[in-house]
Amino acid sequence: MKVLVIGGGAREHALCRSLSLDPDVSALYCAPGNAGIAEVAELRPVDALDGAAVAALATELGAGLVVVGPEAPLVAGVADAVRAVGIPVFGPSAEAARLEGSKAFAKDVMAAAGVPTARSYVCTTPEEVDEALDAFGAPYVVKDDGLAAGKGVVVTEDLAAARAHALACDRVVIEEYLDGPEVSLFAITDGVTVLPLQPAQDFKRALDGDEGPNTGGMGAYSPLPWADPKLVDEVMELVLQPTVDELRRRGTPFSGLLYAGLAITSRGTRVIEFNARFGDPETQVVLARLRTPLASVLLNAAKGTLDTEPPLRWREDAAVTVVIASHNYPETPRTGDPIEGLAEVAAEDGPDAYVLHAGTRREGDAVVSAGGRVLSVTATGSDLAQARDKAYKAVARIRLDGSQHRTDIAAKAAERR
Ligand code: AMP
Ligand code: GLY
Repeated sequence: MKVLVIGGGAREHALCRSLSLDPDVSALYCAPGNAGIAEVAELRPVDALDGAAVAALATELGAGLVVVGPEAPLVAGVADAVRAVGIPVFGPSAEAARLEGSKAFAKDVMAAAGVPTARSYVCTTPEEVDEALDAFGAPYVVKDDGLAAGKGVVVTEDLAAARAHALACDRVVIEEYLDGPEVSLFAITDGVTVLPLQPAQDFKRALDGDEGPNTGGMGAYSPLPWADPKLVDEVMELVLQPTVDELRRRGTPFSGLLYAGLAITSRGTRVIEFNARFGDPETQVVLARLRTPLASVLLNAAKGTLDTEPPLRWREDAAVTVVIASHNYPETPRTGDPIEGLAEVAAEDGPDAYVLHAGTRREGDAVVSAGGRVLSVTATGSDLAQARDKAYKAVARIRLDGSQHRTDIAAKAAERR
């Protein structure tokens, strides 16, 4: 089977890496890709937001499966355009991707499906904003209704800051603060059958100790030694299956990857957010642990035959990924800096530790930074402590001027604190 992956971040690098190891995949293309993906897939230039262009490329390549990585093309209807030319596509329609594209829509679906989530108000006027902030009190949780690459959410004790963010958004969701650890649980679905993956934890804040601004994610690990072993079954029953059923009932079935961002609160598990695609950086650790070849699972989801798929198989290994970000990420990331040390990691740390590229491009012989999150250094080991050691050893070999990374990814979980 020929597979075309749309996107060019570390998540797509992880997807391409897994697909390149799958004997069912005869040719692998990625558009637009990045400097690292070029080592496992043939890159094609494309405007990933242009459905007609992606559909034409898939047709030209004779692709038997298109996998759409990021949310922006999904929300723009790229999966619909590919489906319309008769090629199986892993990724939801624009209608179903509203689960991620609109926080207000997601809240409406959850209410209809009885899915536990934070109580919330959708506000469009300053009066509504003030009433909602007053109703919930501090800490304030203020979310831009639209897509914001993980940066539209402000959680703060500071009323003035909460109010300022709310007033800067056209439509804003203000909600109850949920405490407790966060878990990301992904499920592959064809709109009917739901196949959960293993849970992971992401580190959203820029700095050690969960300080600093929210980012797209600075690192992740899996499995979660502290989590209740029944968590996956519980989330399947309370969250994933009811949400998939509700979207089907509405005539807009969700097929692709349903990402549940969860808070494990003292009052039970609550949904913080849905995403309509694989999470980044959680995908890097989840796929590192998946033993089942990926292509047929994604194809069965795309074709509506996921019920024929045997249960997924997992490695016993733990996985950790550490994101190396540019100078000044997430505010105004600097790009164009040369990256050194990649060959050393490949030579010294492989195959258990490897570098997945996020924002990189090739400039002559050099690989240079091209985005806020630049690399996702991933490692597996017999437990989290070992995976963590291997990941940080590889991180230490990478040289990128002004770069930053967290030093505490998976630290608490590795010590089982
Ligand atoms: P979101 O984009 O909705 O995932 O929000 C980004 C991050 O903000 C989440 O990963 C949480 O760390 C935090 N957050 C979002 N909603 C809440 C909430 N209701 N209570 C506490 N923290 C939240
Ligand atoms: N890791 C958070 C996200 O993918 O949205």
